[in-house]
Amino acid sequence: APGAQQFIPPDADDLAALKAAAGGCRGCELYEPATQTVFGRGDAGARAVFVGEQPGDMEDRKGLPFVGPAGHLLREAVDDAGIDPRSVYITNAVKHFRFELRGKRRIHQSPDRTHIVACRPWLVAEFAQLKPEVVIVLGATAGKALLGPSFRVTQSRGTLMPWPDAAQNPDDFRRVPVDSRGDRADAPPAQLLATIHPSAVLRADNRDEAYAGLVADLKVAAGALN
Ligand code: URA
Ligand code: SF4
Repeated sequence: APGAQQFIPPDADDLAALKAAAGGCRGCELYEPATQTVFGRGDAGARAVFVGEQPGDMEDRKGLPFVGPAGHLLREAVDDAGIDPRSVYITNAVKHFRFELRGKRRIHQSPDRTHIVACRPWLVAEFAQLKPEVVIVLGATAGKALLGPSFRVTQSRGTLMPWPDAAQNPDDFRRVPVDSRGDRADAPPAQLLATIHPSAVLRADNRDEAYAGLVADLKVAAGALN
């Protein structure tokens, strides 16, 4: 598959232009069975940007990221961590819903590395527009998209990391341009913080403990914004 790069208009100068172009992306085969592209949404001036895995069933139908139970939990955790949920931008590493049909049910399937790599140019383009101060990586898929295939949530969660650059495998994907922060020369360089995916909290045996862990991680990100 050719990847998303060729679908990104070189002259796109805002998120709306990117979102419109992403609607026509055919950078991998996931566009075909899905209902629509689910692009990121939120505050264009957001200092904190959250990256999930891929849209789920509800997101695919509505065309908006994190509108289901995981999104509800995420916004609650963001709020509890002291970050205003209205001031963030939320997106996904992969922008089409990948599923397997069982009867009439659409069962979530995790994206493969090929999908992560194919879709990554959209994420890079979003970062170039947003110039975030902290990127919060939610779970393994987003971690692999930004830190490479050896990323493990359990090893990396809860600590601020410098913007990954050497950590990326240049054979696998294009590097995030470090100079993509453009004219915001006064802003500190972007940092990255990994934590668990909100869906993992919903699935956890001890949900309260998992939720507290998520909030504790997000408080570290909040500290970087203050
Ligand atoms: N899970 C994700 O990773 N992203 C969404 O948009 C919804 C659920
Ligand atoms: Fe394009 Fe990403 Fe959708 Fe694949 S998943 S078609 S790369 S937007």
